[in-house]
Amino acid sequence: MESLDYKTLLHCVTQNVAEGILIADKRGIIVLYNDMMSQLEKTKKEDALGRHIRDVFSYIPEEKSTLSKALNERKKTENLQQTFINQYGKEVMTINTTIPIENDGGEIIGAIEIAKDITNIKNLSNTLMDLQGKAMEKNKGKSTEIKRYTFDHLIGKNKNFLQAIEKSRRAAKVNASVLIYGETGTGKELIAQSIHYESDRKTKPFLAQNCAALPESLLEGILFGTAKGSFTGAVDREGLFEQADGGTLLLDEISAMPYNLQSKLLRVLQENYIRRLGATKDTPVDVRIIATINQPAEELIAAGKLRTDLYYRLKIIEINIPPLRERTEDIGTLTEYFLQKYNCEYKKQVSALSSQIKNALVHYTYPGNVRELEHIIMSIVSMADDGQCFIENTLDIPMHAATPRRIELTKDIKELGLEEYLNSIERAMICEAIESSGSISKAAKKLGIRRQTLQYRMKKYKIQM
Ligand SMILES: Nc1ncnc2c1ncn2[C@@H]1O[C@H](COP(=O)(O)OP(=O)(O)OP(=O)(O)O)[C@@H](O)[C@H]1O
Ligand SMILES: [Mg+2]
Repeated sequence: MESLDYKTLLHCVTQNVAEGILIADKRGIIVLYNDMMSQLEKTKKEDALGRHIRDVFSYIPEEKSTLSKALNERKKTENLQQTFINQYGKEVMTINTTIPIENDGGEIIGAIEIAKDITNIKNLSNTLMDLQGKAMEKNKGKSTEIKRYTFDHLIGKNKNFLQAIEKSRRAAKVNASVLIYGETGTGKELIAQSIHYESDRKTKPFLAQNCAALPESLLEGILFGTAKGSFTGAVDREGLFEQADGGTLLLDEISAMPYNLQSKLLRVLQENYIRRLGATKDTPVDVRIIATINQPAEELIAAGKLRTDLYYRLKIIEINIPPLRERTEDIGTLTEYFLQKYNCEYKKQVSALSSQIKNALVHYTYPGNVRELEHIIMSIVSMADDGQCFIENTLDIPMHAATPRRIELTKDIKELGLEEYLNSIERAMICEAIESSGSISKAAKKLGIRRQTLQYRMKKYKIQM
């Protein structure tokens, strides 16, 4: 295709998307500026095209310019929230992403900025906040208690796990912030609640908020509250900090909190004052923060997801919960505990598991950790007949993957070659799973693969039902 055609194509695409798009070349000269960007930034196209970014955006200090960072430092900026007043005097909120563009040789050839107008989303979230506030008002005084956990509910004897519990017990005796690191389902919430209910704050509220997937203004309103007039129709409403006063606030997935808000949170933690969105005065608060992360802190900091200053403020007490695959000695005890729990709940009497199942349970890797083990046992108990030992083929974990076998490399196998050998094993396992389970869905479950994958492979090996 001629380069002129490419240009026409690019122009056509960028004019017909809902986002504002700006492209600068490696010198910083704006070579593309679509109508939507011009609308959002209140800048005429002819005042931007062909000019240097530093001239056009002279009101943005160089060190704050995401385009300069992309061009000079190869730095990508994702989802940065910005607010403009448009030509009609209306407030417009955008989410901007700026990406450096490299050629095949790794040389920077330009940068692209994409701006999404989220004014409507913001208005929607404000309405949602208001509704949420009204619902809270209505429920005031009524019990909205979440399930309470204490240290008695925490099962495990692995050395590192016990160390984490010991640290948590000590944390319950003081007021410092706590940072809990653990993969999903390892018991972070259990530990956070146990700390609260064993502390002096136990008679005050324990509230939890997940920081993921909420736009900055919504999360800010939820945490710090809103003041009348801070946005159309806003009412005076207290946020979680005020509601949890005297108690504990669990901030789950703190690294998903927008970067700007992380610094506001840090200020609150240092000063013990909050300011409602749109308010002019501060309110004193006394809230203990327990935050959680499910990736190592160093990784989150390196990826720019967790502010170093906030991290140091939070990790006064740092608790690491090991994943279940690193504490296999706990699988037996936890299995017994959940068997008892679900026998009781479902009025069943599953007393023993076959050695094959036990073996499978010990060798499984549990990406969902203790929560996943609990669900497996829950399904075992619910599917077993009263008083019976459990029937294996209804088990929901891939038994073959859980029981690694050593394969003897006979002369025949060696002659087949790797690919053909693996294919023959795959074919044999698929045939066996289909014969023994009688349906594609069950066979797929047994093999631990998706139904579509199984169908694809059946076709490949010409296996018929
Ligand atoms: N040590 C444990 N003893 C008993 N039950 C546990 C233990 N750890 C976890 N559980 C069970 O696993 C479930 C999940 O735990 P929890 O909600 O605390 O995980 P989490 O680390 O907060 O996960 P996520 O990151 O997905 O929010 C709990 O409801 C509880 O039933
Ligand atoms: Mg949790």
